[in-house]
Amino acid sequence: MNLKINSFEEYKEQYKRSVENPDRFWDEIGKTFQWQKPYDKVLDWNFTGPDVKWYLNGKLNITENAIDRHLEKRGNKLALIWEPNDPQERFVRWTYRELHGKVCEFANALKNQGVEKGDRVVIYMPMIPELTVAVLACARIGAVHSVVFAGFSARAIADRINDSKAKLVITADGQNRGAKQIPLKRVVNEALENTESVETVIVYDRLGWSPQMKEGRDIWWNDAIEGMEKECEAEQMDSEDMLFILYTSGSTGKPKGVVHTCGGYMVYAAYSFQNVFQPEESDVYWCTADVGWITGHSYIIYGPLISGATTMMFEGVPTYPDAGRFWQICDKHGVNQFYTAPTAIRALMGKGEDHVLSYSLDSLKVLGTVGEPINEEAWRWYYNLVGKERCPIVDTWWQTETGGIMLSGLGKHSPMKPAHAGLPLPGVQPVLLDNDGNEITENEKEGLLCMKFPWPGILRTTYGDHERCRNTYFAAFKNHYFTGDGAKRDKDGLYRVIGRVDDVINVSGHRFGTAEIEEAINANKNVVESAVVGYPHEVKGQGIYAYVVCDKMPEDEDDARSSIVGTVVDEIGKIAKPEKIQFVTGLPKTRSGKIMRRILRKIAEGEPDKLGDTSTLLDPDVVEDIVKNAK
Ligand code: PRX
Repeated sequence: MNLKINSFEEYKEQYKRSVENPDRFWDEIGKTFQWQKPYDKVLDWNFTGPDVKWYLNGKLNITENAIDRHLEKRGNKLALIWEPNDPQERFVRWTYRELHGKVCEFANALKNQGVEKGDRVVIYMPMIPELTVAVLACARIGAVHSVVFAGFSARAIADRINDSKAKLVITADGQNRGAKQIPLKRVVNEALENTESVETVIVYDRLGWSPQMKEGRDIWWNDAIEGMEKECEAEQMDSEDMLFILYTSGSTGKPKGVVHTCGGYMVYAAYSFQNVFQPEESDVYWCTADVGWITGHSYIIYGPLISGATTMMFEGVPTYPDAGRFWQICDKHGVNQFYTAPTAIRALMGKGEDHVLSYSLDSLKVLGTVGEPINEEAWRWYYNLVGKERCPIVDTWWQTETGGIMLSGLGKHSPMKPAHAGLPLPGVQPVLLDNDGNEITENEKEGLLCMKFPWPGILRTTYGDHERCRNTYFAAFKNHYFTGDGAKRDKDGLYRVIGRVDDVINVSGHRFGTAEIEEAINANKNVVESAVVGYPHEVKGQGIYAYVVCDKMPEDEDDARSSIVGTVVDEIGKIAKPEKIQFVTGLPKTRSGKIMRRILRKIAEGEPDKLGDTSTLLDPDVVEDIVKNAK
């Protein structure tokens, strides 16, 4: 299945076709996949419900497309390369045939534990090959996987288990991260004290630890697969059956479960992968994301495997044993396409050029970035030093909700401009709207980034709460999907995504709602209320700045700060730690009691002279106080 566009001319032609006749365009692409029963309609949609269906009544199993279909011609080709945290440990290489056997074997183990089609399975694992096996085994039997990033706390796991009513959890004893080893099973045990739906926990032995195992509930991975056959018939799924739930943060309340379905997601993950990264048959492709995020779902597992590529997974961190680790791995495995996040690039920039210059990096052909805007300095470092001015950079803009890349260059076949994601992929119809919902048609203008037509990878709902999906994405502007991002379009139509315009902050490419962090901070026993904003951070993109009101001003601020950080770590996880906590006597509020974040943001950004009008505040004096004591 080759879906690749081979020139900019071809892109323009395909783009035009995709807009003029989306049904025909996506039908031609859809037909190249393996369906157990062909679909009878390509698309049915409205954005008012919203109600979006792709490849209607088609029957398929995504794992047949990701594995079985390749067995004849690519059975002995490498499907997966795994590089461990410790460079001295042996890496793993599995062919498509080996992957097939492992996925089937574990699928049978899941069935043996009573998992059925439609059941939800939560996966909380390190970046090891068994994580890929676990994900694909769920898909094989039609169970809905919900991967939870292994940095989340017990509370966060419990919330996700309770929301999805998961029946089974797959985890490991612990995980390696650089020089540290972190328990996972212990965290799961704690989470399960506050859940009721989980009947079984399967535990992979990664570290040789002996975590507490609960009799009758917990079983080791190796015992679970004992005696299981390496063949497992793939469950027949409808195109619109749920494939997975992935929780992500929004501007209100708890994280919501973004739902993706089988048919459209499959097509879009593979189509976008092939066009953005332009892999050739013998290439080795590496995405450094974690499978706990959408990037890992679409561009470590599904996109590459459905395309028959060789995908690499890395267990460790960019700076262990030293800041040359990424580049050492690129040379070691001959990586051709390398996909990472701006925050990683900025962190490595700070460690000096020598770490890069020690390696040849000759194999690299395409470099990618994702997760947040990339600043021009980081872009140049990546382009000049890593890519040796010979590799195009694809700056890929997309979201958990979009399932796949929406705005990006296509390998070397697109115009490229630092800090610009660029043009939409064929089939993607972005628009910029003003605050009143009017379309801004001129170029060199800024507006709210929306989509006016569906693409196959669009989210279908938020789990258990369709109204929330409608409200969050489809209610702001009639007949549009609203991304939550602001963007500019340059004179050539290239998009530059500036960042969130809602109460979402992006820390090292991880999304958090300010409300979610405030709720966590407020769980601290001394806290009365808090307000959280993002501020520019050199490495992380944004840092978390919290203004906190306690029942009385703390005597020992450091003490109070570490207590609050501890609460946030318990409630969400280490990744959501506020960088700065300022204790204040009150928050700037309007007369109706709404917190004026605009003001707090300006103070956090170090621009207290640009606060604007504060006369409408309930108590303008608190602002002066906050400015005086700002961090
Ligand atoms: O603000 C945008 C930013 O990340 C958000 C989506 O976050 P998440 O769902 O966690 O998915 C991240 C990986 C796909 C977007 O709303 N974002 C993502 N990629 C870019 C970006 N901002 C600018 N440029 C990008 N390339």
